[in-house]
Amino acid sequence: MIDTKSTGHGTWSSRFAYILAATGSAVGLGNIWKFPYITGENGGGAFVLVYLACVLLIGIPIMMAETMLGRRSQRNPIEAMELLTKESNADSNWHYLGWMGVIAGLLILSYYSVIAGWSTAYVLKAFTGSFIDADASAIKTIFDNFISSPIQLLFWHSLFMLATLAIVVRGVNNGLEKAVQYLMPALFVLMFLLVGYAMTTGSYFQGLHFLFSPDFSKLTANSVLTAMGHAFFTLSLGMGAIMVYGSYLSKDISISKTVFIIAGADTLVALLAGIAIFPIVFANNLHPNSGPGLIFETLPIAFGAMTGGWLMGILFFVMLTVAALTSSISLIEPTVAWLVENKGFTREKACLWSGGVTWILGIGTIFSFNVWSDFKIFERNIFQLLDYLTANLMLPIGGFCIAIFAGWIMLAQHSEAELNMPSTESYKIWKILISYVAPASVFFVFLHVVGVL
Ligand code: PHE
Repeated sequence: MIDTKSTGHGTWSSRFAYILAATGSAVGLGNIWKFPYITGENGGGAFVLVYLACVLLIGIPIMMAETMLGRRSQRNPIEAMELLTKESNADSNWHYLGWMGVIAGLLILSYYSVIAGWSTAYVLKAFTGSFIDADASAIKTIFDNFISSPIQLLFWHSLFMLATLAIVVRGVNNGLEKAVQYLMPALFVLMFLLVGYAMTTGSYFQGLHFLFSPDFSKLTANSVLTAMGHAFFTLSLGMGAIMVYGSYLSKDISISKTVFIIAGADTLVALLAGIAIFPIVFANNLHPNSGPGLIFETLPIAFGAMTGGWLMGILFFVMLTVAALTSSISLIEPTVAWLVENKGFTREKACLWSGGVTWILGIGTIFSFNVWSDFKIFERNIFQLLDYLTANLMLPIGGFCIAIFAGWIMLAQHSEAELNMPSTESYKIWKILISYVAPASVFFVFLHVVGVL
């Protein structure tokens, strides 16, 4: 057994606190901002189906594995991988996995914070009544003017980074638990209200049809990769966020049950967002493939038109911002935990460094929406490049390695004891998924994308 006394590592106050925090990490911009726009860009139904299959067959087993590795080691991801490799007598190169996770987390946060800043800015726009009675083209103009201003984007990005650091400095299992407790239920209620509005647009069924009737001719190798990458992104997998949260989890809690609850809630929020947004898209003759601005160009139309829309608009963007915050803290926590526990940094200094690096990197994303919008590498601007590199490559590669480690390197008696599943059969199913199905799927999708298959 691994000694945990000397690490100074915290624990969640209860199972519920852990579920809230991990759900807080999973549910964020990925569900409400990213899922709808990438679904729109990749043709709808068939993409959604691939995404759901990936969540079930790859995401859930890997989420269990990642939580398990964290809890067994009770350490930050870099140290966790070092310890677990020793415990399994494996090659010490495995600790590079922890490194890749730390880097992926900071890269993701650099653009995540910029988009979360948009959401914060939209709280103010909703408050000042900018959306009232505005039609689709007026709403689009508001968005276009906003993202063309680097100064405004920088301001909101900075504000969001500061808010993230203000929470992380206190330690994720102090302030965080309370924030999520109220946010999650409220977010669900609001999503249902928006779906209610979508039903009145006259294009509700067209929206549902787009989301749920698969047309496989629209799927390309790259859209399958995007769907798979998004399963990792939306569940916060492959970079150590769930590992670090698992490391604060006490030993008597069932990993499998909590993982199903978290993944279920996450998927539900994404589908609700899609069901709310696409009817508005079609009712206003907008295009599903309008990219990262999609929710900012559609939902304000609803807020401008519906009764009580002023308040709903404010609440929605406040909640989206908070949902983004509970994810952003998990993006930076692996780095901070490592700097504190291994490099002797104080929590303040660790936040300052990791936050500073991320803040500067974020400027690249800001510029890709305005002054550098024509600067492209492999036909992608900086934002698209970072998104592709992290969500489509680094997270699936990280997840693949976690699957191999949990399925092939770690001793079965250790994983079985740690997971403590309700029955031996359920453990066996997990073992097959993690050893064969999950890694092979990731591998085949990659082969397909590079054109070997
Ligand atoms: N899961 C978060 C979302 O959907 C993003 C995230 C990715 C958070 C990776 C942590 C790690 O918004």
